[in-house]
Amino acid sequence: MPKKIILDVDPGIADAASIALAAYDPAVELLAVTSVGGNVPASAAAKNLQAIIEFLDPPRLPRIGMGTAPDGTLPITFRQVHGIDGLGGTPLPVAELRSQHPAEKVICDIVRSDPENVMIICMGPLTNIARAFRRDPELPKMLRHIYITGGAVNARGNISPCAEFNFYADPVSARIVWHSPCTKTLVPLDVTNKILLRLNDLEQFPDEKTKLGTLLRSMFIPAIRAYHQNYGLEGVHIHDLITYIAATHPRLFETSEMTGDVEVKGHITKGMTVFDFRRLPELSYSIDVITKIDADAVLDEIITGLNNASEQMEKRV
Ligand code: RIB
Ligand code: CA
Repeated sequence: MPKKIILDVDPGIADAASIALAAYDPAVELLAVTSVGGNVPASAAAKNLQAIIEFLDPPRLPRIGMGTAPDGTLPITFRQVHGIDGLGGTPLPVAELRSQHPAEKVICDIVRSDPENVMIICMGPLTNIARAFRRDPELPKMLRHIYITGGAVNARGNISPCAEFNFYADPVSARIVWHSPCTKTLVPLDVTNKILLRLNDLEQFPDEKTKLGTLLRSMFIPAIRAYHQNYGLEGVHIHDLITYIAATHPRLFETSEMTGDVEVKGHITKGMTVFDFRRLPELSYSIDVITKIDADAVLDEIITGLNNASEQMEKRV
């Protein structure tokens, strides 16, 4: 039985690659993809989402929901890694935006239409999810599962000394989702930092002469270059792709239930995920946290999935 999923993305390079995986994954029914501001402002994320879906041209078109900026403004972007356009400067045709349905409305409609069977895989700030929960307070109990790229248990922050980007960008929404009564799995930096996609890994990607192979290289090569310039690393993290595999291949991971919360006010610690490991924890909001990853097997699944997507796309040209 295919897993019914909604992807919530801030494309973003690994977000874009995750959409390709999901759109052609035979084990998944991609019901919708919703955009949120994060790596790039909300308007750019919406345009990127539309352009990616049109480029991928999946046999079953998912519904599309467009997110707007978090209440207030997006404090930051991640353009130093993803490029000004968010896709590494990839020249995707500028798609005409189909009617823009609000992301939170699409999420509520789809989850309500099939209670307890829909999973949301969150790959950006949690703005849309929090809005959906405010719009329909019964929604958390109707969700099958929510997987969240973000946070850090012991790992350092990647956008501030102590905060991960998605939580930093909208900590208030992250806290709302963390406190919500649904089955939640957090995929923190401690785990997603375990895989660094290197230039030689691209040799296993779809051939450079294929549509998808061309897109992936045009996104990941500049990102690997940006990682080297900004962080001195010989590769790029692929956080969102790991979260996708966590949702579709849970056997490659181990989880542990933890209690904690999200800092929403700290001048230095805003967006920090704080866990309470004391014998009698006072922080009482629990969440399942992935603690172990079979990194080689996960990377193999990502590469296999991308090659599968490419083979299907090439049959459709
Ligand atoms: O911290 C990693 C997250 O920040 C990923 O979702 C990446 O796309 C960026 O949004
Ligand atoms: Ca993302």
